[in-house]
Amino acid sequence: MRNRMIAGNWKMNKTYTEGVVLAQGLAKELADGTGDVDVVVCPPSVDLKGVAEVIEQEKAPFALGAQNVYWEESGAYTGETAPDMLTNIGATYCIIGHSERRGYFHETDEEINKKAKALMAHGIVPISCCGEPLEVREAGKHVEFVVDQIKKDTEGLKIDDPSKYVVAYEPIWAIGTGKTATADDAQEVCGAIRKTLAEIFGKETADGIRVLYGGSAKPNNVAGFLEKEDVDGALVGGASLKADSFAAMVKAAM
Ligand code: PGA
Repeated sequence: MRNRMIAGNWKMNKTYTEGVVLAQGLAKELADGTGDVDVVVCPPSVDLKGVAEVIEQEKAPFALGAQNVYWEESGAYTGETAPDMLTNIGATYCIIGHSERRGYFHETDEEINKKAKALMAHGIVPISCCGEPLEVREAGKHVEFVVDQIKKDTEGLKIDDPSKYVVAYEPIWAIGTGKTATADDAQEVCGAIRKTLAEIFGKETADGIRVLYGGSAKPNNVAGFLEKEDVDGALVGGASLKADSFAAMVKAAM
């Protein structure tokens, strides 16, 4: 019913030249295809065009995603990237609401919601991130915290095709720390996310939306997450920076 998804978030890593080499390596690793698994690679914005060219030249079985977008069409917004600019170079996905953007760049749920709407209006699939900080988890309030984010981030969205909206649950305390949530921790929150999506959009739509886990996901632990009913894949940071480890995660999902 839902194709699994493995998405790589390169964050602020890889120059243009290094990004091309990594994409070429990944194309080689995945030359036999990825079965029913949807694979997405999200390089820094200056690398997007180079990776798009590799995908085209190598007929690589992965899609291109950006890491951020601005919601306006064009104009005097120095440093920002419009949705149209992403579609024009072949990006079909875009991460929004990553905890690093919420934290370091003070992005709010209201802004994340505007970004989702702008992306969907241009046919780009948002990978909308949510997740709680450590103190919220320790206080046992993680489910309500994430449910609140989901409600705000999806406010007023129209989802006609559930395969075109993706949620990534990334507990902040597990990102880049080597500290993973357990598969049961992930299922608890991913299940609550799907329940919330069902309340908002109806069960049929919610059943078609991919909910990914992210946070120190690695080749040796990804299978455990994927066994869980409401975990449909992974958003991968560190382990997406090497072609062999990222490809191993894709293969574990196949
Ligand atoms: P990590 O990052 O896999 O390096 O923990 C995940 C993410 O932030 O998307």
